[in-house]
Amino acid sequence: MNIADFDIYRDLLKAKSGLTLTQDKAYLIESRLNPVSKKWGYENIGALTKILRGVPPKELVNDIVEAMTTNETSFFRDNTPFENLKSKVIPYFKQNPRPNKTLRIWCAAASSGQEPYSIAMLLKEEAAMHLPGWKFQITATDISHEILEQAKEGLYTQFEIQRGLPITYLMKYFKQMPDNKWGINQDIKDMITFKYFNLLDNMVMLGKYDIIFCRNVLIYFDQPTKKDVMERSANLLEDDGFYFLGGAETVLGITNTFQNVPNCRGLYAKSKSQHIVAA
Ligand SMILES: C[S@@+](CC[C@H](N)C(=O)[O-])C[C@H]1O[C@@H](n2cnc3c(N)ncnc32)[C@H](O)[C@@H]1O
Repeated sequence: MNIADFDIYRDLLKAKSGLTLTQDKAYLIESRLNPVSKKWGYENIGALTKILRGVPPKELVNDIVEAMTTNETSFFRDNTPFENLKSKVIPYFKQNPRPNKTLRIWCAAASSGQEPYSIAMLLKEEAAMHLPGWKFQITATDISHEILEQAKEGLYTQFEIQRGLPITYLMKYFKQMPDNKWGINQDIKDMITFKYFNLLDNMVMLGKYDIIFCRNVLIYFDQPTKKDVMERSANLLEDDGFYFLGGAETVLGITNTFQNVPNCRGLYAKSKSQHIVAA
């Protein structure tokens, strides 16, 4: 692919999703967009590129963005955030209850659902022991309609189940379904509202949250976009709320809005919050 064609894809992805496409990832254009090109009846990527030079249909642009996203995820991914949720965040809210005993959580790049379902199962366990009578409202969003449909279904293969789900949770919260799949129980599904949301869009309508998970998505953005998303997310977070980032992500050198909660890898709080000041 020549540089001018590559630039078309790079600029479109940056503008529509924030994803940064570098030259060394140019091969992804061919491998991921061939099926899109076929679906739309174009002869090859060259023909698709020609359409993008004009005014392409919105649905085609969506298909391209979806195909270029990386949806890699797993149950209880990296474990530490879930340990921090259990040992640091939940005890804090137990001591500092929310109005109506309702905890609001936003999972900002939910992919196929393993992350919000992990949060929901953990909260269910903790509620039984430490937060009796509490309600949990989890809003799980993603830019990919297709991956959100999978997430809503809550059906997982044996391979997906084996990646991180403790056997006790499998027994308690899943049932066996046809085709060797496992389906998550309705009461866990009912804790989550799945909806489309692009992190580049205005966030105000999403409401306020006590906890935000924004893991393993900012790594695909450039510095100004990371800063912008972090700072706009901070406006949605209660002043004493918690912000989770992925293992390879940090606020250091990007924004002063958040700081790392001492001794809690991947867990952040607003710089002026008591979690930081008291440390
Ligand atoms: C690698 S997955 C991370 C999933 C999960 N948070 C985790 O840590 O396992 C990244 C997700 O971010 C989504 N994504 C990419 N760009 C986005 C954007 N601009 N707005 C919302 N979601 C986006 C992708 O569709 C993908 O599902």
